[in-house]
Amino acid sequence: MRTLITGASSGLGETLALHYARQNHDLILLARREEKLRAVAQACEALGSSVEVIVADMTDFAHIHAIAKTLSTQKMDRIILNAGVSIGHSHDVAPFEEVHRLFHTNFLSLHALLEPLIPTLMGQKSGEIIFISSLASLFSMPSSIAYSSSKRAVNAYAQGLHHQLREYNIDVMTILPGFIDSEMTRKNRFKMPFFLTTEQGVMRIVHAIETKKRFYPFPRRFYALITLLNALPSGVQDRIVSRFSQ
Ligand SMILES: NC(=O)c1ccc[n+]([C@@H]2O[C@H](COP(=O)([O-])OP(=O)(O)OC[C@H]3O[C@@H](n4cnc5c(N)ncnc54)[C@H](OP(=O)(O)O)[C@@H]3O)[C@@H](O)[C@H]2O)c1
Repeated sequence: MRTLITGASSGLGETLALHYARQNHDLILLARREEKLRAVAQACEALGSSVEVIVADMTDFAHIHAIAKTLSTQKMDRIILNAGVSIGHSHDVAPFEEVHRLFHTNFLSLHALLEPLIPTLMGQKSGEIIFISSLASLFSMPSSIAYSSSKRAVNAYAQGLHHQLREYNIDVMTILPGFIDSEMTRKNRFKMPFFLTTEQGVMRIVHAIETKKRFYPFPRRFYALITLLNALPSGVQDRIVSRFSQ
């Protein structure tokens, strides 16, 4: 199984890489921080997996496109689009440059990477494309407008891609985690509801992938609350959001 994981130098990507190394996948690991990425690759190799390391910035679209073109000359079984950033939780108006970088990382880079790879998957008539979105995509809070919007764009992209690639036997999955321990959430200075350890979060993601869930929000109780919030009258929503975003 040839598996590409973006954002494999820490957090969910690192733990996913280690999991699939134990399953003897041929891994392609991508991130910017070379030292960290090579350490993850070494740990994966020690578990018996073969690893190709790609040090690259997802926002360098020309580079990402060229990498994907090279990768597309061989069979690709699974692409896990996990690299992502947040710009912290603040009520200030976000600086344009930060929102620009966030959208390039979390959203636009996905197409730069996928454009050359999709024809390979179509030709194979097999493959899996997995988007790591977020529960934050389902309800936009004042403190995470850019992040929520970028992940909602991911959901829309993935939904359309599913319908485009269905007839080619390609599985497109969107996974929407709540709060999980990682470098990203360690920066948060508020109580995170339904918080999961990295291992717990990754086990849910692995379960979603292995059972080919098209749309997999978790934890379920957190998802239920967000669904309920979205269904409430707007005035009630406003009062709840004001209360929880002080
Ligand atoms: N943790 C959560 O609670 C949570 C919840 C919902 C969704 N998610 C999503 O899960 C994914 C993984 O996040 P995480 O929680 O594991 O956080 P993390 O530990 O900060 O991992 C983020 C990964 O993305 C990589 N990355 C960031 N910008 C990049 C860029 N420009 N080019 C290439 N790689 C880049 C980072 O590597 P380098 O810095 O080495 O490049 C790192 O490997 C993200 O998409 C995040 O939005 C996380």
